[in-house]
Amino acid sequence: MRWLAGLPLFAAAAAVATAAAAFLWPPRKSRASGFTDLGPVDEIPEGVVVRTLESGPIVVLKEAGQCRAFSAACTHLGCPVRWRPEAGEFFCSCHGGAFDRGGKPLRGPVRSPLKALNLRITGGRLLLEESS
Ligand code: FES
Repeated sequence: MRWLAGLPLFAAAAAVATAAAAFLWPPRKSRASGFTDLGPVDEIPEGVVVRTLESGPIVVLKEAGQCRAFSAACTHLGCPVRWRPEAGEFFCSCHGGAFDRGGKPLRGPVRSPLKALNLRITGGRLLLEESS
């Protein structure tokens, strides 16, 4: 009967693992709709998540429940950018380029903003427009 005491902890761990796996699992593509399903919006954590799609890596920035998505390719020479939460910016370590949270160039050799991608929330799911 002692094993029953650990059941709630096991159930909680399983729920967290299921949510994490659902988000990390490759996104479902719906060619008919023209959108890629990035998963339940409520399960996307605050901060930045990197997803790899057929078209390349993207970054999804979620702040105060609002999501924005950009191509992760730096507009200078295409190196991947990463989010620096302490600075509130996307940073490219190849040549020191930086972009603000809206994707606009801040410093370094970058002149063009990160490519913004169109998102939509339908039925509680975050959808990425494929042509964006
Ligand atoms: S490739 Fe990003 S700053 Fe040069």
